[in-house]
Amino acid sequence: MPQFSRSSGISTADRRYDYARGAAGDGDHAAAADLCEQALEIAPGWAPAWYALGDARASLGDVEAAQAAFLRALACDPEDSQGAALRLARLRGENPARPPDAYVRGLFDQYAARFEEHLVRDLAYCGPPILKAAMARACALAGRDMRFGAALDLGCGTGLMALELAGACASIDGVDLASAMADRARASGRYRHVEAGDMQAFLAARATASVDLVLAADVFVYCGDLAPVFAETRRVLASGGLFVFTLQRAETGDFVLGDDLRYAQSQAYIERLAAHEGFHILGCDTVSVRQDRGVPVPGLAFVLAAP
Ligand SMILES: C[S@@+](CC[C@H](N)C(=O)[O-])C[C@H]1O[C@@H](n2cnc3c(N)ncnc32)[C@H](O)[C@@H]1O
Repeated sequence: MPQFSRSSGISTADRRYDYARGAAGDGDHAAAADLCEQALEIAPGWAPAWYALGDARASLGDVEAAQAAFLRALACDPEDSQGAALRLARLRGENPARPPDAYVRGLFDQYAARFEEHLVRDLAYCGPPILKAAMARACALAGRDMRFGAALDLGCGTGLMALELAGACASIDGVDLASAMADRARASGRYRHVEAGDMQAFLAARATASVDLVLAADVFVYCGDLAPVFAETRRVLASGGLFVFTLQRAETGDFVLGDDLRYAQSQAYIERLAAHEGFHILGCDTVSVRQDRGVPVPGLAFVLAAP
């Protein structure tokens, strides 16, 4: 996960915060908590230090004190660019429907410049080629060419999915919550149009039955409850159009927020949403699109067809 660059504007507080992060990295959470408290004595309204204090206290098993620190982080940064609300939800055993927008934006705006190098090289990310292969199998099954009219790429990132599908679509429009990612996708020249914004609003602005393909590669890890996006996707897809996406796989329940603050969804949940919207399931493959500390993360690749 990318690290945010942060300063309180007071160098003595910044230094203690940096030491705290170093101590946390070495596994000395008691020292990290102590150093965060020192930083907060100097800069009491500084959200990153409250967040780091929450982390340290959670690692020490002091759940109540950790919650208090995350609440202070949230009070100092109500937009919640660090995802303190997600950390609080984890500690309380709650399952929020989606992360704060500012958190996803912050994460990927910081990450954009090194996204491809880090994700593809270090985390062995292969969402786009996996989805292309799943689409090819589904098209063969459905007796249709691997050619599409208008396509939408939800959470397009830097444009890796459009690169994978070069020449297969009449047009691809992309959307990404993080404007630095959207800027890169736009600059790639692979899209007809790229918008910085939320995928739900992007879909809502489309005419009914106007699209042949909707893609979402490794995006639903940042959206737990997929019912709204399924409903809008069903509305914008023309009959026979495909809805193609990857997921991190949950073994039980519908969707669950993990320790890494990413969501996972279960196969049964997707099958239920698909049935509710009348989608046909053309493909459901067991895949891994990414590694976590060298271990493949279990996932699913779905290809659904609109009735
Ligand atoms: C792991 S990246 C994958 C990017 C791209 N699909 C790919 O395969 O390279 C996830 C992307 O989804 C975007 N994202 C997350 N939630 C979003 C939302 N609600 N609306 C639009 N984009 C979103 C993030 O900003 C990020 O760029």
